[in-house]
Amino acid sequence: MLNKALLCLVTFAASVNILNYGGVPMGVQAQYLLGLGIGDITGPVVETNMMGYASLGQTDTGLHMRQRSRAWIVADASNSSNRVVFINADIAMGDTGIRRSIVSQLSSEFPGLYTNENIALVSTHQHSGVGGYLENLLPQITALGYVKQTADAIVAGTVLAVRRAHANLAPGKLSLGNTTVLNANINRSPSAYLANPAEERARYQFDQDKDLSLLRFDDASGNPRGFLSFFAVHGTSLYENNTLVSGDNKGMAAYLYEAMVEPSAMPGNNTFVAGFTQSNVGDTSPNTEGAFCESPGQPWDGQPCEFEHSTCGNKTEDCHGRGPGFRISDFESNRLIAQAQVDGAKTLMSQTLPAVSGPIQWVHTYMNMSFRSFTLPNGTTVQTCPPAMGFSFAGGTTDGPGAFDFIQGDNSSNPQNPFWEIVKGAVTPLPSPEQVQCQSPKPILLNTGFAHSPYEWSPSTVDIQMLRVGNLVMLIIPGELTTMAGRRLREAVRTKLISSGIIGDDAYVVIAGPANTYAHYVTTREEYAVQRYEGASTIFGPNTLDSYIDKYTSLLPFLAPNASGSPSSDPAPQDQTSKAISLQTAVILDNAPIGESFGRVIADVQTTSPYHAGDTVVAQFVGANPRNNLRLEDTFLTVDRLVNGDWQAFRSDSHPSTKFQWLRTNTILGFSTVNVSWTIEDGTPCESMFQFLLVCLLTRSQPDRTVFLITAMPNHCLAPFLPSSDTRPPLRPHDDSQRLIPPVANMNSSY
Ligand SMILES: *[C@@H]1O[C@H](CO)[C@@H](O)[C@H](O)[C@H]1NC(C)=O
Ligand SMILES: *[C@@H]1O[C@H](CO)[C@@H](O)[C@H](O)[C@H]1NC(C)=O
Ligand SMILES: *[C@@H]1O[C@H](CO)[C@@H](O)[C@H](O)[C@H]1NC(C)=O
Ligand SMILES: *[C@@H]1O[C@H](CO)[C@@H](O)[C@H](O)[C@H]1NC(C)=O
Ligand SMILES: *[C@@H]1O[C@H](CO)[C@@H](O)[C@H](O)[C@H]1NC(C)=O
Ligand SMILES: *[C@@H]1O[C@H](CO)[C@@H](O)[C@H](O)[C@H]1NC(C)=O
Ligand SMILES: *[C@@H]1O[C@H](CO)[C@@H](O)[C@H](O)[C@H]1NC(C)=O
Ligand SMILES: *[C@@H]1O[C@H](CO)[C@@H](O)[C@H](O)[C@H]1NC(C)=O
Ligand SMILES: *[C@@H]1O[C@H](CO)[C@@H](O)[C@H](O)[C@H]1NC(C)=O
Ligand SMILES: *[C@@H]1O[C@H](CO)[C@@H](O)[C@H](O)[C@H]1NC(C)=O
Repeated sequence: MLNKALLCLVTFAASVNILNYGGVPMGVQAQYLLGLGIGDITGPVVETNMMGYASLGQTDTGLHMRQRSRAWIVADASNSSNRVVFINADIAMGDTGIRRSIVSQLSSEFPGLYTNENIALVSTHQHSGVGGYLENLLPQITALGYVKQTADAIVAGTVLAVRRAHANLAPGKLSLGNTTVLNANINRSPSAYLANPAEERARYQFDQDKDLSLLRFDDASGNPRGFLSFFAVHGTSLYENNTLVSGDNKGMAAYLYEAMVEPSAMPGNNTFVAGFTQSNVGDTSPNTEGAFCESPGQPWDGQPCEFEHSTCGNKTEDCHGRGPGFRISDFESNRLIAQAQVDGAKTLMSQTLPAVSGPIQWVHTYMNMSFRSFTLPNGTTVQTCPPAMGFSFAGGTTDGPGAFDFIQGDNSSNPQNPFWEIVKGAVTPLPSPEQVQCQSPKPILLNTGFAHSPYEWSPSTVDIQMLRVGNLVMLIIPGELTTMAGRRLREAVRTKLISSGIIGDDAYVVIAGPANTYAHYVTTREEYAVQRYEGASTIFGPNTLDSYIDKYTSLLPFLAPNASGSPSSDPAPQDQTSKAISLQTAVILDNAPIGESFGRVIADVQTTSPYHAGDTVVAQFVGANPRNNLRLEDTFLTVDRLVNGDWQAFRSDSHPSTKFQWLRTNTILGFSTVNVSWTIEDGTPCESMFQFLLVCLLTRSQPDRTVFLITAMPNHCLAPFLPSSDTRPPLRPHDDSQRLIPPVANMNSSY
C-alpha cells in the first residue's frame, strides 16, 4: 500500500515537472504537497493565571472558546524531504520549552522529516489564554510558577495538529497576495513612532502596517483547502478583566472563517484551515477608538489619555484603549476586529492570486544576545546586552495598564504573590556599570539577564529562523517588532534577497511572531530612546533590531536553491522546566454537597418569558473542577437539538455563542457550581427542542451528566416555552469514548 502510494506520487511529480516549463506555472501545476491540520491546546480553564497581561488578578474562571494550534505543511513534490511546517498556535507567545517538546515528539515520530530546523512555532499573541507554560521565570510570576498541565496541553494539541496535517498531505498549489485592512489596528505608542526620522515616516501613509498578506492553499484541482494570512494587530481585544479562556481576535477570526466554509462542522472538526497569523505586532492595538480615561469623579474622566505617557491624572491605571464595540462590550470589539481580518482574507480568497512556485528552503540557528558584537552597515561596531526590563515595563500599555504593579509596594505583611516572595531576591543586585551603559538610555527596573536563580528569568539565546516557499520568505521572529522595526527588517532582507540573486524582483517577505522563543519587544533605536512600554521591553538594548537585521540578512544564502550545510550556531538554551517551581495547588477537594450529585440542576432555565434570537439562556449546575479532565478535542457541555427523535450536538463549549463559567462556592468542602449559557444565534431553527448537557466533568466515580432543559424555539421564536415536565424525550446516551472529534490514529509516514 505504502509503496504504491509513493510510486504514484513520484510518477505524478515527474509529469508535473514536464508541464512546468520555463518556470511559468501552468493551469493544473501542483508543485507542492500540502497538509493542513488543527488540534485543541486548551489547558486548565479555571484557577490558573491567564497569559498576556501579566495580571495577578486575571485568573481564569471558565471557557468562551477553545484555544487551537493550526499547522500547515508544504513539501516539494519532486523531493518531499524538502518540507517546512508552519504552526500558528493560539497562545500569547512561542516558548523554547514548548517548542523543544514539540520538536522532540515530531522528530521521533517522523524521523528525518520534521526537525528543529524546519518547524516554526508561531503564536497569535492573544491575551485570553491559559498561562504558566513558559519556561523562563519572568512570565511565570503572575502564574505562581510553571503550570505543567498548560504546557502539556499545548504540546499534545500542537503535535496532533501536525500529525493531522501530515496525514492529509496531497498535491496542491499555492498562491500569494495582499490587501488593505483599514479598520483593525492603530498605533498605541504614536509618540514613540514619531521619534523615527521624518523622511523615513514620509515613505509610509500610516503609522501602522495595514496590509494583510495571504498564502492560499489549493488542492490539485484548484479547490481551496485553507490559507495562512499575516496581519499585525495585538490580541488584546478582550480586556484584562475577562476571565473566560478565549482566542481573542485571531482565534475568533479563524473560527468565523472556518465556520463560514463548513457551517455544520463542530469547531475543531473542520477540514478547511484558516490561519490568522501575527506579524510586527509590537506597537499595534485593536482598540481602534483610542485610549480614554476611566476616572469616575475626576475632571479628566472620559477624556483622551495624555499623549506622551498614556496617563490620566499622572497615573497609568485609568487609561484604557477602546475597541470598535466598546459601547457594547469587549467581546463585541473582539468580534468586529476578527471580522475585519476575515473580510480581508475573503477578498483575497475570492480573487485569482499570483501562483507561488520555486524551492522549499529553511534555515534555523540560535543566537546568544548577551554582549553580541557586530558591525552596523555604516562600519561602527556595536553590541547587544544581557536582558533587562526598563521602568516603563511596569507601567504596561493602554491595552493593559500597570502590568506587574504588584512589584511596587509589595512589602506588606501579607504579600499578594508568594512566588514573588521566593524569587525576588534574585533581581535585587544592582546592574553593573557595563550593563547600565549597554542598556542606556533605559533605566533598569529588572536586571533579568543577571537573574539565574532559581532558574533563568529571561532568555539570552533566541531562535533565528526563516522558511522559504518559492518567492515567499517568512521571517520567524522571537519577539514583537514594532511597525517601523518590522519595515526595516523586511526591507533589508528583501533588498539582499534580490541583490544577491537568491529571489527575483517578486521576492515577498513577511514577519511572523512572536515565535519559538519569547524575547519580548524589538523597537527601532529611535523608539528605544523614548522608552515607552515597547522600548522598556526591548530587552537586549538599543542595538537589538540591528542585531536581528545583521543576523537574518547574513543567513540568506541558506535560502538559495544551491545552498548546502547549515549555519554555525550558538549553543541551544538549556531546559529550565526541570528546575521549575510551581506553587499552583492541585485539585485536592472536589465534592458535591451531601444529597446532591455532580451535574444536578440548581437553577433551571427561566421559562416565564419567551426567548428571541440574541437572548441568552442560562442554567446552573452542581459543578466539579474542570482541571480534573481538560476534555481536549471534546467539550464540557453541549447544546443538543432534537432531530427526528434523536438528540444531536448542536453547539459545543467552543462555539462563541456558549459560555462555561465555573465558581468555587466552598473552598473547605470543595463545592462548586457551573453556569452554562447560550446566546441564541440569528437563524436558529424555530420549533426545535433543545437541551443543555453538562458532560463528564470528573474522572471520579459519580455520574455527572444531566439534562436540564427541553424547550421549543417556537414559530418566530416568540411564543413561550413548553412547560418543563415529563414530556422531555429521553437523554442522549453519553459514551465518553465517543469523542466529539475523533482522534487520528498515529500515522507513520505516508509521503
Ligand atoms: C532531497 O532533499 C533532501 C533534503 O534537502 C536532500 O538531503 C536529498 O539529497 C534530496 N534528494 C534528492 C534526490 O535530491
Ligand atoms: C502587496 O502586493 C504588491 C503586488 O505584489 C506588492 O507590490 C506590495 O509590495 C505588497 N505589499 C506588501 C506589504 O508586501
Ligand atoms: C473591564 O474593563 C473595561 C476597561 O477598563 C471596563 O470598561 C469594563 O467595564 C470592565 N468590565 C467589568 C465587567 O468590570
Ligand atoms: C501631574 O504632574 C504634573 C507635573 O509633575 C503636575 O503639574 C500636575 O499637577 C499633576 N497632575 C495631577 C492631576 O496630579
Ligand atoms: C552568552 O554569551 C555570554 C557573553 O559572551 C556568555 O557569558 C554566556 O555564557 C553565553 N550564554 C550561553 C548560553 O552560551
Ligand atoms: C553608525 O550608526 C550608529 C547608529 O545610528 C551611530 O551611532 C554611529 O555614530 C554611526 N557611525 C558612523 C561612523 O556614522
Ligand atoms: C514598604 O516599606 C517601606 C520602607 O520600610 C515603607 O516606607 C513603605 O510604606 C512600605 N510600603 C508599603 C506598601 O507597606
Ligand atoms: C549559489 O548560486 C549563487 C547565484 O547563482 C552564487 O552566487 C553562489 O556562489 C552559489 N553558492 C554556492 C554555495 O554554490
Ligand atoms: C449563574 O446562574 C445563576 C442562576 O441562573 C445566576 O443567579 C448567576 O448570576 C449566574 N452567574 C454568572 C456568573 O453568570
Ligand atoms: C467530524 O467530521 C467528520 C467528517 O466530516 C464527521 O464524519 C463527524 O461526524 C464529525 N463529528 C462531529 C462530532 O461533528
